[in-house]
Amino acid sequence: MLRYFILFQCFQIIICILYPLVDPNRLYDYNPPENEVTFHLYDRKNFSKNYEIFIGNSTSFEQTQFNTDEPTIIIIHGWTHGNDTPWVRELAEVLAGTNFWNVLVVNWSKLSRVTYVEARLHNTVVAKQVKKLMIFLAETKYYSMSSVHIVGHSMGAQIGANAAQRIHIEIGEKIGRITGLDPAAPLYEFPHIESLDEVLDPSDASFVDAIHTNAKHIGMITPAGHVDYYVNGGQQQWGCNTWRCSHIRACELFIASIRKPDLFKAFSYDSWVKFNDKITNSLEVYPMGIAASPKIPFGIYFLEVKDEYTKYVSSKTSLMDSYGSYFGEMQLLNLF
Ligand SMILES: *[C@@H]1O[C@H](CO)[C@@H](O)[C@H](O)[C@H]1NC(C)=O
Ligand SMILES: *[C@@H]1O[C@H](CO)[C@@H](O)[C@H](O)[C@H]1NC(C)=O
Ligand SMILES: *[C@@H]1O[C@H](CO)[C@@H](O)[C@H](O)[C@H]1NC(C)=O
Repeated sequence: MLRYFILFQCFQIIICILYPLVDPNRLYDYNPPENEVTFHLYDRKNFSKNYEIFIGNSTSFEQTQFNTDEPTIIIIHGWTHGNDTPWVRELAEVLAGTNFWNVLVVNWSKLSRVTYVEARLHNTVVAKQVKKLMIFLAETKYYSMSSVHIVGHSMGAQIGANAAQRIHIEIGEKIGRITGLDPAAPLYEFPHIESLDEVLDPSDASFVDAIHTNAKHIGMITPAGHVDYYVNGGQQQWGCNTWRCSHIRACELFIASIRKPDLFKAFSYDSWVKFNDKITNSLEVYPMGIAASPKIPFGIYFLEVKDEYTKYVSSKTSLMDSYGSYFGEMQLLNLF
C-alpha cells in the first residue's frame, strides 16, 4: 500500500528524477533482510570502541557495560549515512565520554545508501528492528522506555518516531524523549499522507524537541515536537551555500550542545521576523540541544547561530559522506 502510494505521489516531486536510475524490480520486490540493521553499544572506557548487540541474545549485552540504572541514547542516522559517518561517530563518542548514558547506534547504512525513495521504503524494517530490540531490553532487563532518548537526523528522526509509536502500541510504554535533527520533509511532510501517522509529532514520545536548519527544503518546516527550534529562521545556515550543508548543521549543533550545554540561547517568538524586529521583548532564554527539557514552555523558538559552535565540534560531514560509489559521480545529487 505504502509503496504504491509513495511511488504514485513521488512523481510530483523532484527526487523522483532518481527513480529511473534504479532497477524497478528491485524497488518493488526488494524486502530488505532484517539483519541489514545492526546495533552497536559504545564502550564506557574506550569511547571509540563499540560492541555489536543482537536482538534476543542476552550474552551480547553481558560483554558490554550496559547499565540499567542509566538512561540510554539511541542514535539513528538518515539517508546515505551509516555508523561510520563522521557526525554519528563524534556524537556517539562525545555521549559515551560523559559517562552518563548507554549509547546505542543503529546502523542501517546498507539500506540507506540507495535512492531516497528506496530508503524511504526501508523505514519500516528499520523501525521494526529498533522496536524489537527495545522490547527485548524492556522484557529481559526490565528497562523502562521512559529512560530512552532517541536522537535521529533527517530520515532517522522519522524512523525514530515510527519505532517509538510501534513500541507504544505494543507494550503501552512511551519513549522518554525524541530529538529530531532537521527531520526529513520529502515523502513525509510533502506529499502529506493523512492516513499514515509516520511523521514525527508530539504524540510519539513524552517529550519531543526538533531543531530545524533546512526547513522547506530537506527538512520539515511544520513544528514536529513540543518544542521546535528554528535556527537562523530555520531554513539556511551561517556559511552554507547548499541545502545539505544547512541540513547537517542540526547534527553539529547538537554535538556542540553536549560539550557546552548552555551554548545556545533561544527565544520564544511567533516568527523570525518578530525575532529580528524584537517586537515583543521576550526576556526569557531557553537552551537548545541536549539541555532542552519538558520544563521549557511548549512552542516555537528562534535563535541566531553563527560560528560560535565550531569550537565544540571536530567532525565535518556532508550529506554524501560514505555514500559509496552508487551515485558517487552523479551530479544530480548536487541538488541537495
Ligand atoms: C580503543 O578501541 C579502539 C577501537 O577498537 C582500539 O583500536 C584501541 O586500541 C583501543 N584503545 C585502548 C586504549 O584500548
Ligand atoms: C550472542 O552474542 C555473542 C556475543 O556477541 C556471540 O558470541 C554469540 O554467538 C551470540 N549467540 C547467538 C545464539 O547468536
Ligand atoms: C554497518 O552496516 C554495514 C552494512 O550492513 C556493514 O558493512 C558494517 O560493517 C556495519 N558496521 C559495523 C560497525 O558493524
